[in-house]
Amino acid sequence: MFDHDDALRALDQKIPLSDKLLAVHRVLRRKLDFIDRIAVAVYDPRSDTLKTYAHSSGSDDPLSRYEARLGDAPSLRDILAKGRPRVVNDLASFGGGHEHTRRIRAQGYGSSYTLPIYLNGNFFGYLFFNAYRKGVFDDAALSELDVFGHLISLAVASEVSEIRTLLASVRTASDMVHQRDFETGSHLDRMSNYAKLIAKELAASEGFGDEIIEHIFLFSVLHDVGKIGIPDGILLKNGKLSEAEFAVMKTHALKGREIIDAMLRHFGLEDLQHIDVLRNIAHHHHEAMDGSGYPDGLRGGDIPIEARIVAVADVFDALTSRRPYKAPWSNDEAFAKLLEIAGSKFDRNCVEALVRSRAEVERIQERFQDGRL
Ligand code: C2E
Ligand code: SIN
Ligand code: SIN
Ligand code: FE
Ligand code: FE
Repeated sequence: MFDHDDALRALDQKIPLSDKLLAVHRVLRRKLDFIDRIAVAVYDPRSDTLKTYAHSSGSDDPLSRYEARLGDAPSLRDILAKGRPRVVNDLASFGGGHEHTRRIRAQGYGSSYTLPIYLNGNFFGYLFFNAYRKGVFDDAALSELDVFGHLISLAVASEVSEIRTLLASVRTASDMVHQRDFETGSHLDRMSNYAKLIAKELAASEGFGDEIIEHIFLFSVLHDVGKIGIPDGILLKNGKLSEAEFAVMKTHALKGREIIDAMLRHFGLEDLQHIDVLRNIAHHHHEAMDGSGYPDGLRGGDIPIEARIVAVADVFDALTSRRPYKAPWSNDEAFAKLLEIAGSKFDRNCVEALVRSRAEVERIQERFQDGRL
């Protein structure tokens, strides 16, 4: 009798998917040393987009923060239509001119094996095995890779389905709040897209990967979930709040945190990776850099970065939108205001990231207008 060291025990642990991929990659390399990259792209049917999700190729992946409509990626669509994996043993002579094929090639990869991945028969993304060498994917290699492919696919599926459960609950909670709030669905679409813009701009300096950017985008819609606990007379007041009313209003941040904590408990999602991003957004989106914000009066770098990002995204949209208590400001006025109080109230880097992205901000405004779908 003897003990065995389970090479794949990383798969059993509560660690980020990219760490699981790295562990699987290490094991796989012992058998197939030519595999240089494993990557997963997850498909979101709501937006028909394919997003890079996790990969094992180090921090400087050329395909990081890459998103494409599946409709615009004929070679991948083709794989899905056939429902069968695809081998390209010479990427140089592979005709696919799509941006991501070009990036893969430019990175020096010579061959690729691409599998569509499914959960209970539903397509949910692609798994990519890439090698620098050409011609490496023969029958022996492929049958080995299929086993690893299914292992990885299961690990991705369980994470994706947890996240989808969480998102369904986030959306339900958010719809319930906005049954009675004056904040429209378009506000949430705009502000969450602004938050994503800022997060992308800060990715290099903050060391954000794709997952965290996506989480900031998805979770920002719940920043004001605590407003569900604010009485109508205050929430819907047609005019300026008194000091006492504003004091009640300010409780929405902590109430939001409590609602989210309860929700995570009920769904058993408390240990999900990055879930503090969600908690922090609700709890700290009204903190100010100089400590004058609420509820905790946190300062500067003590304010979680996701909350600093959402604060800028939220206020920019609040300023440029009509509220029962105010007329909408122009973009120029709103940018000027944000720049004026950058440093004291807002993280200057977040404000500058948004201001730099003005063209994209205007596209978001065009796309998500009030009173339109
Ligand atoms: P909200 O309407 O979503 O606004 C979010 C944040 O945007 C505000 O956080 C504030 O930082 C900024 N903001 C919105 N409108 C203006 C404005 O006209 N001028 C300036 N300088 N900043 C603005 P804040 O102040 O902590 O307020 C939190 C929430 O309290 C607001 O969310 C809104 O629901 C409510 N609220 C605040 N002031 C009033 C008010 O005078 N009347 C009513 N009815 N509600 C108010
Ligand atoms: C990848 O190879 O990382 C995924 C590319 C894609 O999003 O299509
Ligand atoms: C492609 O699907 O466009 C080829 C590149 C890859 O397999 O990652
Ligand atoms: Fe708020
Ligand atoms: Fe808001």
